[in-house]
Amino acid sequence: MVARSQRDKAGVDLLELYRWAVQAPETHATVLRLMFERLHPGHTPTVLREDFAGTSAEAVAWLALAPGRQAVAVDLDGPTVAWARRRAERLLGDCAAALQFVEADVVATAPPAVPAAHILSVLNFSILYLREPAQLQAYLQHAWHCLAPQGVLVLNLFGGPAAKKPRSDRHLITPQPRLPTEAAIPPFEYTWEQRHFDARTRHIDCRIHFRTADPAHPGRVLDLRDAFRYRWRLWTVAELTSALHAAGFATVQVWRHTHDPAPGGAGVFLGAVDPRVLDPLAHWTAYVLASRVSSEDGSASSPSAARSGPSSAA
Ligand SMILES: C[S@@+](CC[C@H](N)C(=O)[O-])C[C@H]1O[C@@H](n2cnc3c(N)ncnc32)[C@H](O)[C@@H]1O
Repeated sequence: MVARSQRDKAGVDLLELYRWAVQAPETHATVLRLMFERLHPGHTPTVLREDFAGTSAEAVAWLALAPGRQAVAVDLDGPTVAWARRRAERLLGDCAAALQFVEADVVATAPPAVPAAHILSVLNFSILYLREPAQLQAYLQHAWHCLAPQGVLVLNLFGGPAAKKPRSDRHLITPQPRLPTEAAIPPFEYTWEQRHFDARTRHIDCRIHFRTADPAHPGRVLDLRDAFRYRWRLWTVAELTSALHAAGFATVQVWRHTHDPAPGGAGVFLGAVDPRVLDPLAHWTAYVLASRVSSEDGSASSPSAARSGPSSAA
């Protein structure tokens, strides 16, 4: 995930910049709890598993926001896991013991080595790492087995015509900590670049660039191009939905979390939508929720032995 040589050369902590630029972990931890509670009224989730965890910031926020919780964070990159562990210990103190870090491939990590999860979160579009239909299908079947009986898998996705065109979005980031133990860092510039989309394979090449103060040379600015690079496959909602059903999930829903600033607090929406609402949007992000339990009659699903991948039709 990290262009480590660049981090060493520049003396800049790229994961720290990434955390402030693209993550809202306390919001995500709250949204994940609300999703579970809306799907299973009267039940309280306690175990969060974060796959492709990177900074593991959601797992940390999950533990920081309520007592009596457990979290598991899985990532295969050793230096990233070590960074996340140091951050968790700094922010959570003794409570960091409730966070189990696993340095491994997500498909190699399952109960009983880790607790069965009430919520398995795969956010920041990490499902797009799985570029082959068979790889996606194998992971979703594995995810089904890693969940508690009422467990919910939460993915997110982006799309729309604008997601397929080369573009760069530049933002000034001014870190504003929400946990009392987290320190702010100075403002910096963050750019999300979609460099190339191949319509045939749906492979997409995305980059993150930063511009920040040079710690070695006060007054100078460092231009950190390609701090992170992602070679993803832009799955469609239809492809993911069909793969989730094939993996054995009983309920699959598309959710949006949107904010219309005009009516103030009343403009916040979080809930299930008809996937067709995405069709006219130039660019959208959405969550895909998959539950082992049917939302119709509460019946439990069975894991699928299906080995076929999702259809490649959008
Ligand atoms: C987009 S990044 C981080 C996403 C994370 N949810 C976040 O918000 O920071 C994805 C991470 O997935 C990890 N990763 C990629 N493929 C993986 C796999 N098969 N198993 C475990 N980790 C993986 C990378 O090492 C990287 O740290």
